[in-house]
Parts: sequence; structure tokens; C-alpha cells
Amino acid sequence: MPDHLTVVRHPLVQHKLTLMRDKDTASAGFRRLLREISHLLAYEVTRDLKLTNTSIETPLQEMESPILAGKKLALISILRAGNGLLDGILDLIPSARVGFVGLYRDEKTLQPVQYYFKVPEGLNDRVVIVVDPMLATGNSSAAAVDLLKQAGATNIRFVCLLAAPEGVERMHQAHPDVPVVTASVDEKLNDHGYIVPGLGDAGDRMFGTK
Ligand code: URA
Repeated sequence: MPDHLTVVRHPLVQHKLTLMRDKDTASAGFRRLLREISHLLAYEVTRDLKLTNTSIETPLQEMESPILAGKKLALISILRAGNGLLDGILDLIPSARVGFVGLYRDEKTLQPVQYYFKVPEGLNDRVVIVVDPMLATGNSSAAAVDLLKQAGATNIRFVCLLAAPEGVERMHQAHPDVPVVTASVDEKLNDHGYIVPGLGDAGDRMFGTK
């Protein structure tokens, strides 16, 4: 099991994150960078996956060689911004099963409201990777993990691009068993629940809405 909190300080991640934070980076560039960073975050969050040996034949001889053990992973995207991370992680783990949790944030209470939930079967036997670029208050992330646990998941990890200290704390309180992998823990949340300095609304930046 990875550490409770992993901040991926790899220079490529930090460089790409800076470009994403820049308000002058337009949607197409933002999406491309998010996809690229998600490869590197996926590398980190999967580094302890179990392997088993299988027999294969190379052109020269037979050998026992490692492959991933167990059932296919489940990737769970928290809509809508999670989809930006999902695409990149699927590049690396194309056989993963995919689920979606639809939660929107009530702008007054900042509490999550569920509107969609569709996840793969057999979550109890799978490594489950939940993706959402912004761990802000942590309310929707913690609520999504609650739902996944109710659906049977026991081995859950959470990947985000940016986290606020408040969100990390909230996830840790609610789900101490769920490790968080991120590219940065920023300074704070502002009064509207945005991460500061952050990068703004990840969904709007990704899809060009506003
Ligand atoms: N969601 C976002 O997209 N951005 C934030 O800063 C906080 C939550």
C-alpha cells in the first residue's frame, strides 16, 4: 500500500503543472498536459501492484515472466473533471474497468449532491483508483469513496492533480485507508472553495465552459 500522501515531485510533472496553472493556457493545451501528467501520476499510484509469473515463449526460449496479478483494475472518474485524468490513465492501463460517479457541489453549502453512479462489478476484488483533478474541500471525494465502499470496494487509491491541505485532511479523517497521490498540495482554499493558487475550475479549463 502506498503512503497516505504522495506528492509527485518529478520535474516533468512540476513543469507541466506550471503550464496548466497559467491562465493563458487554452483548453486544448490544458487537456493535453493533463493527459500527459496523468501518465506520470498513474505510474506512481500503481507502483505497488502485485505481479505473478506467466509462461511465455520469446523467439529464443521459454521463460517465466511477470504480469499483473488478480482482477482487472477499476478506474472511477468523478464527473466531469475526472474524465481528463481517466483518459490518460487508460492509456497506461487499457484493460481497466471504468466507472463514473456524478457529484456536483452545492455552491452554497459546498456539500456534494449525487446524480449518477455506475461502477464495474466485483469491486471488492479489484484495486480501485478514483480520479478527480481537484481535491478541494474533500467533501465530494470523501462522499465518492463512501459510495464505492458501500458498493464493496476495499482497496481504494485516490489520484488528483492538485490538493488543498483541507482536502487532504478531510480525506484522511474520513478514509485513512485511502492513499492520495497528487502533483501538489497548494496553500489553501478560498471562501468559494477554490484551491489557491490552484488553476481555477478544472472542468471549465478542460472543456472551455464558463
Ligand atoms: N474544483 C475546481 O475545479 N477547482 C478548484 O479550485 C476547486 C474545486
